[in-house]
Amino acid sequence: MKTKSLTILLAAVGTLLTLGLSAQPVSRTLFNDGWTFTKDGVSRVLDLPHDWGVEGDFDISYPSESGKLAWWGKAEYSKTLNVEGKGSRQYFLDIDGAMQWAKVFCNGEYVTEWPYGYASWQADLTPFIKEGENEIKVTIDNPEESSRWYPGGGIYRNVWLTVADPVGVAHWGTYVTTEGEKVNLEVTLRNAGEAVGGKVRTEIFEYDGRKAVASAETVVDTIRDGIVVNEEFLLKRARRWSPEEPNLYKAVTTVTAGDSKDEYVTVFGLRDLEYKEDGLYINSEKTFLKGVCLHHDAGALGAAWNTTAWTRRLLMLKEMGCNAIRTSHNPPAPELLELCDRMGFVVLDEFSDTWSIPKRKNGYAVLFENWFEKDMAALVRRDRNHPSVIMWSIGNEVPEQGYPDKYWIAYRLTEICHELDPTRLTTVGSDNPWASEQDFRNAVDAYGFNYKPHLYAKFHEANPGKVYYGSETESTISSRGVYMFPLGTTVEAAEQDFQVCSYDLHTVPWGQIPEQEWKFEDENPACLGEFVWTGYDYLGEPTPYNSDLTILSNFHDPKSLERAKKELEEKGRISSPSRSSYFGIIDLAGFPKDRYWLYQARWTEKPVLHVLPHWNWAGREGEVTPVHVYTNCDKAELFINGKSQGVRERADKQYRLRWDEVVYEPGNVKVIAWKDGKKYIENIGTTKAPKKITLEVEEGFGDGDIFFVDVRIEDKKGQMVPTACNELRFKIKGPGEIVAVDSGDATCLTPFRSDRIAAFNGLSSVIIRPTGKGRIVLTAESDGLKKAKVRIRSK
Ligand code: GAL
Repeated sequence: MKTKSLTILLAAVGTLLTLGLSAQPVSRTLFNDGWTFTKDGVSRVLDLPHDWGVEGDFDISYPSESGKLAWWGKAEYSKTLNVEGKGSRQYFLDIDGAMQWAKVFCNGEYVTEWPYGYASWQADLTPFIKEGENEIKVTIDNPEESSRWYPGGGIYRNVWLTVADPVGVAHWGTYVTTEGEKVNLEVTLRNAGEAVGGKVRTEIFEYDGRKAVASAETVVDTIRDGIVVNEEFLLKRARRWSPEEPNLYKAVTTVTAGDSKDEYVTVFGLRDLEYKEDGLYINSEKTFLKGVCLHHDAGALGAAWNTTAWTRRLLMLKEMGCNAIRTSHNPPAPELLELCDRMGFVVLDEFSDTWSIPKRKNGYAVLFENWFEKDMAALVRRDRNHPSVIMWSIGNEVPEQGYPDKYWIAYRLTEICHELDPTRLTTVGSDNPWASEQDFRNAVDAYGFNYKPHLYAKFHEANPGKVYYGSETESTISSRGVYMFPLGTTVEAAEQDFQVCSYDLHTVPWGQIPEQEWKFEDENPACLGEFVWTGYDYLGEPTPYNSDLTILSNFHDPKSLERAKKELEEKGRISSPSRSSYFGIIDLAGFPKDRYWLYQARWTEKPVLHVLPHWNWAGREGEVTPVHVYTNCDKAELFINGKSQGVRERADKQYRLRWDEVVYEPGNVKVIAWKDGKKYIENIGTTKAPKKITLEVEEGFGDGDIFFVDVRIEDKKGQMVPTACNELRFKIKGPGEIVAVDSGDATCLTPFRSDRIAAFNGLSSVIIRPTGKGRIVLTAESDGLKKAKVRIRSK
């Protein structure tokens, strides 16, 4: 892991303050602790966010697309709320995400429901609350066959309680728009009582500042429920928001009316977006979108939101040069957007994978008719103050692309976005080339191509001035540290291992290797950039080893569908152990695959030199074993045991240098490279046998709620043994517990909740949670290896 440089990066990003206050009343507090969770007749007390799916065992008989974990079922969460002196106070419960079909009850009475598992929503408990003890209950109904990936199960995001006076700022009741240094704040007020006169006063602060830089006050003669007040500000010499310098401000709005007082914070940034003939400009700076798509799970932690884990993930992406994220294919946790605001990522905020035509039997299509307008509106109203969010993505690969009589849906979704937020473009991820020539393309402001870079030029010519980009690109597949020979060994030939070669030359049939996509990006300057599928491996969808016919949903062209169907039927259902994807640039445990440096070479200016494969090939002596180098240096020379294998000059826009004829002999592999006259050296070599374990706690991020410990199997000289898959056992002493183990092996069926796991190609990860203050000691053992210990101080 690159822990040290991550620490430096974090220092530049700034201290992480409490999340959850992007646009919220100050009186809102977390309501996560001590819920009684009941499922299958068993009750226990736990804290939210909670995902029951990752707590269980993997079961090889479950469909691979689900992650082979049982995330489905019915369950119930209940908690007591003590109320003293209710008076005229209002009680609101905010649920940031419950998977799915959640219903809220208060003292046995039905309050409200929201079925879409990725939506955030509010329940007004006020009419049901009584003095003393109140029972709050949330029921969940999570049907099988509702997702193409692992969705998780339960209340997997934060829950908040707001206790407020009758007059104040409405739910998601502020909307900031900016132009240059001008700021407009639209405040929608709520009033649960009689109309009354009052005052709205807003002060603007730099994000960490204590002194207001601007203020405004509006006297309102009559505050009726839902009235809107506008306040304007001029922030002279304002510090702009951009991915490179993510400067933020906050507006603190105080509403006073009669006996009511409410304070509401809105975090925002000032940035101007322009779409020109040669792409996107942020504050007049050309910004190429170096993006990744991300699913919402955090590997072994499942769907349960964890700020520390996501900070770690985003830091690694940032260091790779990534500046953009597509929240495929659903609304993210609000905290993810807060992290993007703070760390400098632009975001395509996505509504859904499905509209009215189902992709899965119990998927969003079941909800569509009654909910799509509400869900789209909820997303825009929740997220429209985030400077990171630059577009609303209204869908992904929806089959409606092929049905012009259904294009009204796209038009309606765009209309909702424009009504609630005229400042941002709408977009869609489209995989149907035909649709890009139909009226479908007019229904969104920016056209997103999934895996169709060859259409960029044609589209631009036919639609000059229309914004477009690669909403999903590549889908290259690989397993960290796995190499297969000869180069070009097909995925099928490797099937018995259920791994994919990591020379990064394999993609799914509908995808491209990075270099193929980049060629088109470079030839088409109007293309805004790309969103690689995916930044991280995720649970479910282990293409190409999906074990059942559900893989067919990936084929929309009837011919390829027929071919794939025939192939699968001929083979019978492939019984695959795979439970997570191979698409990630970074594996499920958070260890970078080789591709990480390929993107870093293209996306950053820093000198990058990465050699592959590893050099432990006992048995391959005398055989051709190609060496590839991912680099942005001008040229490089490869040496095997001191013998030059020749110099390779890098052509413009080329990031992979190849020595395909190298013959394996154990020993040293050295690359000497030059960039702008400076010399850079990378050495790898054949290691000795595994001898010891080392443990390293990742530092520099998070607030100590969990810790990531990297486990390495090393030889006697301290070199990581890249083929080591030793069985590891962990013990913990002191106030801590093991939350999860994972090695990033997509075929590993050891439960995440375990105290043992096999290393995968030299590495493994353990996630520790402190249970109190003091010193936690983690020990790792393995037969025949020297054991290791590491201390964690829990504060
Ligand atoms: C796309 C789809 C993604 C994922 C990807 C895998 O077609 O939009 O959700 O399934 O394929 O390559």
